Amino acid sequence: MTIPIVAFPGTSPISTTVLGFGCASLGSRVGQRKGTRALSEAYDLGVRHFDVARSYGAGSAESILGNFIRGKRENVTVVTKAGIFPPANNRLLAKGILVAGRLSPRTVASKRRRSYEQAALKQSVHESLRQLSTDYIDILLLHELTYRDQIEHDSLSALRELQDRGLIRAYGVATHGKEIMRLERAGHHVPIPQVPCNVLDRNVQILRQQGGATSALTHSPFGGRGTLSSLYSNPVFLREASDAVDAPIRSLADLGRLMLACALHLASPGVVVCSMFDSSHIRQNVETATQRFDVARLEAFVAKVSSNKSGTS
Ligand SMILES: NC(=O)c1ccc[n+]([C@@H]2O[C@H](COP(=O)([O-])OP(=O)(O)OC[C@H]3O[C@@H](n4cnc5c(N)ncnc54)[C@H](OP(=O)(O)O)[C@@H]3O)[C@@H](O)[C@H]2O)c1
Repeated sequence: MTIPIVAFPGTSPISTTVLGFGCASLGSRVGQRKGTRALSEAYDLGVRHFDVARSYGAGSAESILGNFIRGKRENVTVVTKAGIFPPANNRLLAKGILVAGRLSPRTVASKRRRSYEQAALKQSVHESLRQLSTDYIDILLLHELTYRDQIEHDSLSALRELQDRGLIRAYGVATHGKEIMRLERAGHHVPIPQVPCNVLDRNVQILRQQGGATSALTHSPFGGRGTLSSLYSNPVFLREASDAVDAPIRSLADLGRLMLACALHLASPGVVVCSMFDSSHIRQNVETATQRFDVARLEAFVAKVSSNKSGTS
C-alpha cells in the first residue's frame, strides 16, 4: 500500500503525499543526526512532503533538510516559510547546536524576529534557497501573516513576483482560518492556506464553509506536543470516542491512529503535516495514512467532540 497523493495548483501542478513530515523540531528539540535518521526513515516508507521554515531550529532546520534532499529533489515537495526569522547573529545558537546537538525550543523561540516587508521576504527566500541547496521552493508560505501586515506591506505581491521569476512554484499563508478568511474577504487572495487540523480544531471546516481552501495544507493532527497523552488520560473523552467509532481505544497508539485518520479525513483534499521523529511514530503514521477508514465512524467522532467540548477539557 502506498500513501495517497494530492495535487495543488502552481506554475505547474504540484503532486505530493497526503502525509507530510513537519520539521519544526529539527535543530532544536531534535539534533541533526537523529533528525536526518527520521527524515530518511519517513522517505524510505514513502513520505514525500516536508514542511520547514526559515525560523525552525534557529535557522538550521532548512540546511539539515537541504542536505537530506540532495539527490532526491525531484521526488519531494518542500514547503518553507518567510516572515519569522532566526536571530540576525545566531553564531552562538549555531555553536550551541553544534556542541549540544540541539537547543531547547524555548531558547530558539525567544530569539525569533518578524518582518513582512517585501525586501525582507525576498531576502528570506534567497536564504532559504541557499540553505535548502535548491533552485526552487515548491510552496512558500508567509509565516503567521496578519491582515494588518498585508495592508502595511502588501506582502503577497512579493510572492507573486517570486513565482513569476520561477523561484517558488506556489505560495500561501500559514496562519488560522479566521485570518485567511479576513484576507480573502478584503480581496487578498491566498492560493494555498496552511492551518491546524485535528478533531479539536475547526479551522479547515471554517475555511471550506466559507469557500476557501479547495486544497489545503494542514498541520498538527495530534493537537501539538502533549495533547495526545492528555486526551488519553481523560476517561470522558476516551469513552465518548470509543462509543462514537464503535471500537475500544485501548492504547495511546489506538488514539493516535484515530486522531490522524480523522485529520486526514477533515483535510481531504489536502496534506496533513505532523512531527514524527520517533521511529515508532513514523511507522504508525505511514501505516495509518495508507489505510481506509470508515468515514461514517470518523464523522461520528468529529460530531461527538464538537457537540461536547467539555469532554476534551
Ligand atoms: N504556522 C504553521 O505553519 C505551523 C504551526 C505549527 C506546526 N506546523 C508544522 O506542523 C508540524 C507538526 O506540528 P506539531 O508538532 O505542533 O503537532 P503534531 O504533529 O500534532 O504533534 C506532534 C507530537 O505528536 C507526536 N506524535 C507523532 N506521531 C505520533 C503518534 N502516532 N502517536 C503518538 N504521538 C505522536 C510527536 O512526537 P515525535 O515528533 O517525537 O515523534 C510530537 O510530540 C510542525 O513540525 C511544523 O512543521 C506549522
